[in-house]
Amino acid sequence: MGSFYYIFALGVLLMIGCSSSDITSANDIVFPSKNVSFKGQVEPLFSLACNSCHSPGNTVDLSSFVGVRATRVVNQPGDTNCGLMQVIYGRATHLGPVNIDNIRKQGLKQWVIEGAQDN
Ligand code: HEC
Repeated sequence: MGSFYYIFALGVLLMIGCSSSDITSANDIVFPSKNVSFKGQVEPLFSLACNSCHSPGNTVDLSSFVGVRATRVVNQPGDTNCGLMQVIYGRATHLGPVNIDNIRKQGLKQWVIEGAQDN
């Protein structure tokens, strides 16, 4: 009987260890098809995939809403030709890797289309 509780406790610990807050890759972030959230998906994605180069003090800072809504990133809500879209879809020269898959790119695009809000 004792070993049963031991295994049970181990299972609980494993489940806690694998909770969704442990996302370490941008491509594990689940974007909804509608109502994409800046705080829920966009900001965590930038944090994992982009902010090693785009933090406060860099020309382009993707670590805050104000930084993301700067001229070279998302200047106008709904603008799918903004700097951010050009970079992620490879339409602009960019001095770094864009390590996000097409599903995440589509998620970012949806957020821009929905008004690039601080939501
Ligand atoms: C290895 C470093 C590096 C990484 C990683 C990186 N970038 Fe950049 N990015 C740069 C540099 C350098 C510039 C030029 C501006 C500057 O000096 O900050 C730039 C510029 C940009 C610009 C402005 C483009 C323009 O034409 O003015 C955007 C938008 C951008 N990056 C988005 C991203 C996104 C989104 C990611 C993550 C998916 C990312 N970057 C990851 C280095 C990087």
